[in-house]
Amino acid sequence: MVAKVIDGKAFAANVRAQVADHVASLKKTNGITPGLAVVLVGEDPASQVYVRSKGKQTVEVGMNSYEHKLDASTSEEDLLALVDRLNNDPDVHGILVQLPLPKHLNEDLVINSIDPAKDVDGFHISNVGLLGTGQKSMVPCTPLGCLMMLRNHHGSLSGMDAVVIGRSNIVGKPMAQLLLGDSCTVTIAHSRTKDLPDVVRRADIVVAAVGRPEMVPGDWIKPGATVIDVGINRIERDGKNVLVGDVHYESAAQTAGAITPVPGGVGPMTIACLLANTLTACCRANG
Ligand code: GUN
Repeated sequence: MVAKVIDGKAFAANVRAQVADHVASLKKTNGITPGLAVVLVGEDPASQVYVRSKGKQTVEVGMNSYEHKLDASTSEEDLLALVDRLNNDPDVHGILVQLPLPKHLNEDLVINSIDPAKDVDGFHISNVGLLGTGQKSMVPCTPLGCLMMLRNHHGSLSGMDAVVIGRSNIVGKPMAQLLLGDSCTVTIAHSRTKDLPDVVRRADIVVAAVGRPEMVPGDWIKPGATVIDVGINRIERDGKNVLVGDVHYESAAQTAGAITPVPGGVGPMTIACLLANTLTACCRANG
């Protein structure tokens, strides 16, 4: 079997177009423009690339983008004061503090200082609790993008065996909650999981989110399974710097029924979902 390639780039363009339409009508009928504030502390090169891309796409869908770039030595007090200002700014509907933060800053404290209604990352403890109990919440962008692609491919996910490899707060745990919410039987695997190959071989859906280049080979994949690769890893190959996922694409694509490529799979969906979450936050704030 050769897998169907799930085109996240095209899917994300579609989501952004829908968001842009909704933003245009919101402006026309209510005179409201959704606004997203992104806070970047320090000069991490990967974070700078993401933040630039977020800002550009925010403007492209007709929203206001507010970028706050702070020095790596910024104090916790100053960062909390900025978040407080953004919480109280009626023009800001979504707030994202780019992670990771420099070591001297307490990430949990900073994330939990964001107004949960503006927490478009869905990382605030109250959104985590709402998601875990099946209540209306802000849903983390990367898992939301994965779920949208899975629903689009399968229709219903009910009764499917899903394995999520990775237990991060940003991807693995919320992904597992979302799959459970769609009535999958969910296993969360991680670095201490015994006999990982056999656990993965049982799965109809594999979501790989470990950040280790090509660690899932094709012979772990059940024939016909759907593979969602969240990994974005830079490696040197044949003297070139290339992007690869957590799944060995060439071999997995021979066995899987469907697979997301890297790049062009989950990546573009993450920002599209961030824009969709910002629109949702704006609509909720304005009744
Ligand atoms: N760093 C890597 N991914 C993310 C994300 O989805 N949100 C934030 N805030 N920081 C990140």
